[in-house]
Amino acid sequence: MSRVALVTGGSRGIGAAISVALKAAGYKVAANYAGNDEAAAAFNKETGIPVYKWNVADYEASKAGIAKVEADLGPVDVVVANAGITRDVPFHKMSPEQWQQVIDTNLTGVFNTVHPVWPGMRDRKFGRVIVISSVNGQKGQFAQVNYAATKAGDIGIVRSLAQEGARAGITANAVCPGYIATEMVMAVPEKVRESIIAQIPAGRLGEPEEIARCVAFLASDDAQFINGSTISANGAQFFG
Ligand code: CAA
Repeated sequence: MSRVALVTGGSRGIGAAISVALKAAGYKVAANYAGNDEAAAAFNKETGIPVYKWNVADYEASKAGIAKVEADLGPVDVVVANAGITRDVPFHKMSPEQWQQVIDTNLTGVFNTVHPVWPGMRDRKFGRVIVISSVNGQKGQFAQVNYAATKAGDIGIVRSLAQEGARAGITANAVCPGYIATEMVMAVPEKVRESIIAQIPAGRLGEPEEIARCVAFLASDDAQFINGSTISANGAQFFG
């Protein structure tokens, strides 16, 4: 029987590529999304992957949404915590709201996504937790004190979960994408984006599928002994 995979933020950007790659690898995939109904409907029409709307920053909504996924598809074996936002602004201008929104979605959102599926993974003695971190969690980034804090936090989360889950057949790993050609990166002012690309030895942005293939590998049985690690996919921009 095919395993069930849940991808948060799974209908756009890197998350959409992950959903598609996991479906192609034989998983029953559920793609969560927070707000963009139009994009989610288009994604569902194009891929046939069911979409589920909830805000990962809300614990009760996450629990209810995951319960619906499990009722429809079966217990979640693979969870990909991918949903994330940016509120880029230099620190001296950062408001408490801009700090909190990013913490709530990117960091607390990982807790809210993994916590409801963790007991079932422990009971069934199998699980894959894959958290999408970032090169900017490894190296920091101008105007991203909030975002970098959450992405560095992801690494602490998987290293801790790995130790707790190892004997129950659960692995927890992070993927640290560099700058990938998605709406999030395209929202960076063009001049700034060009200067960032100039610092990437590969000389280009990554493709979402290049991250999705890392996730598909970490989800596979072949990756059982890889636990608490990070895979960096950034075109040699940084060695974390
Ligand atoms: N290093 C050093 N200085 C920098 C800088 C950098 N990386 N980026 C901008 N600056 C400087 C500018 O040159 C400018 O200096 P001057 O005032 O001397 O001209 C100053 O900072 C800009 O300050 P402002 O107060 O005018 O900045 P702003 O309020 O207009 O904000 C910005 C501009 C938000 C910082 C904008 O430059 C930006 O979006 N930067 C990109 C941040 C970034 O890389 N985000 C990643 C998004 S993608 C992502 O997050 C996915 C992932 O995981 C990789």
